[in-house]
Amino acid sequence: MRRLDQLLANLGYCSRREARGWVEAGAVTVRGEVADDFSAKVVPADVCVDGEPLDHPDGLLLLLHKPVGRVCSHDGREGPGVYDLLPPRWRQRNPGVTSIGRLDKDTSGLLLLTDQTPLVHRLTSPKHKVPKVYVATLNAEVTPERATELAALFASGTFQLADEKEPCAPATLRMRGPREAELTLTEGRYHQVRRMFASQGFEVVTLHRERFGELTLGDLAPGQWRELPLDCFGSV
Ligand code: URA
Repeated sequence: MRRLDQLLANLGYCSRREARGWVEAGAVTVRGEVADDFSAKVVPADVCVDGEPLDHPDGLLLLLHKPVGRVCSHDGREGPGVYDLLPPRWRQRNPGVTSIGRLDKDTSGLLLLTDQTPLVHRLTSPKHKVPKVYVATLNAEVTPERATELAALFASGTFQLADEKEPCAPATLRMRGPREAELTLTEGRYHQVRRMFASQGFEVVTLHRERFGELTLGDLAPGQWRELPLDCFGSV
């Protein structure tokens, strides 16, 4: 049960003060009856505003095709955010919609967004070893011999990035072409793919995340998103 004015404010409809005005104006119903008490405790599924059921009262879980040039940060000084691609009301929710892990501004691909804080913690925890598949275009060709060496190094579990205390978890490298590498990681360190290749003398020219666990982008175009069931990763 949630307090009516708080519920509308938390779902991004309006401020609590405005919610009180909406109730007083008769715009809100609870189980089909016009609400007259903005402080009443209600079941979200019972509430309508202007005759419409509430917008995702139980929460949001979205799969976005992140385009290059957008940031996962909420700080507008870092560039246009991925959140601006969502409907305005979803951007006003509290708890707010945030990304599950981050992709760099210059990285495209599969990004999960949610307002379910426990899910963010669960899926970004190092304990939760969900495989993430990245495709990197490199600045130079990798010979088959060098590819074998790199694959062994990244899979070793002892490979260490500069300035990091712990070695990287074993990662799987497969070359799709002389300059196209597929790297599967089960962790998400800062700029990890770029830093792993840079440590071996390669620059990542383009980077795209193709897969997160069992999830893929399907035919989503850059900038588009689709909804996932909230229990997609089991109950939170
Ligand atoms: N590794 C990177 O270097 N960048 C990303 O955006 C994701 C993984």
